[in-house]
Amino acid sequence: MAGNWKMYKTAGETTAFFEKFLPLVASSTHCDIVIAAPFVNLPAAVAAAAGSRVEAGAQNLFWAKEGAYTGEVSGPMLSAIGCSWVIIGHSERRQYFGETDETVLKRTKAALEHGLKPIVCAGERLEERESGNTDKVLQTQFEGGIAGLSEAEFARVTIAYEPVWAIGTGKTATPDMAADAHRFLRGLVSARYGAEAASGTRILYGGSVKPDNVRGLMAQPEIDGALVGGASLDAASFATIVNF
Ligand code: PGA
Repeated sequence: MAGNWKMYKTAGETTAFFEKFLPLVASSTHCDIVIAAPFVNLPAAVAAAAGSRVEAGAQNLFWAKEGAYTGEVSGPMLSAIGCSWVIIGHSERRQYFGETDETVLKRTKAALEHGLKPIVCAGERLEERESGNTDKVLQTQFEGGIAGLSEAEFARVTIAYEPVWAIGTGKTATPDMAADAHRFLRGLVSARYGAEAASGTRILYGGSVKPDNVRGLMAQPEIDGALVGGASLDAASFATIVNF
C-alpha cells in the first residue's frame, strides 16, 4: 500500500502526519506500507518512520549517479538518507515533464542499481481507452519501460496500473476494469519473464482509491495493492485504506 503525496506537505506536516498515522497501522503486518514524499521531506519521513514498518519512497530519481545535472536527485542520494522505494514513470511525469518509456527504463535500472525498490507506473489516457487501445498502450509501455530489465532486475520491481482518466478525478476504474488491465499486464510479464515471475509480481491499482472503494478493488485477486494519491494525505484516510 503506497501513498503518493505528489507536491503536497512541508517537512513539519510530514512529521505531524506520521505522528497520527503510525499508531493506526502499528499492527498492520499484511502488507508493505510506503509513503512517497517530495524529495525535501524524505529525511523527515525517514526519521519519523524509524522503528516502524512504514518505509519512505521518492517520486522520481535521475539515472546518473552524480554530475552536472542541475536540479536532479540521484539513486545514491536517496539510498544514503534511508529512502527505500521510488515511484517511476507516473503519468504526471509523462504528461508534464517529458517522461518516456525509454527514460522510465533508465530510471528503473538506476533505482535497482542503487538498492531502491521501484514502483513502475503504466496506464492509458481516456482517449486511448475510448478508442479501444488500452491493451496496446499498456503493451507499449511494458515493452519500452520494463521488458528491457533482466529477470533478476524484474524480480525487484512492483508495477502500478494507473488509468490516467482515474487519477485525481474521483472516477475509479471498476474492480472488473482494473482486474482486466492487471490480468493483461500479468500476461505480458508471463510472456517475458515466465509464469512464476508473473504470479509473484505485485501489481498495484492507482486512480481515486478511497476508503470507500478500496475493499471492492482489493477483493479482486489480480489486484495486489494500491497506489493512493489524494486519500493518502490524511492519516486516518490512508490508514483505513491500508487496513481495508
Ligand atoms: P489519486 O492519485 O489517488 O489522487 O487519484 C493516484 C496517483 O496518481 O498515484
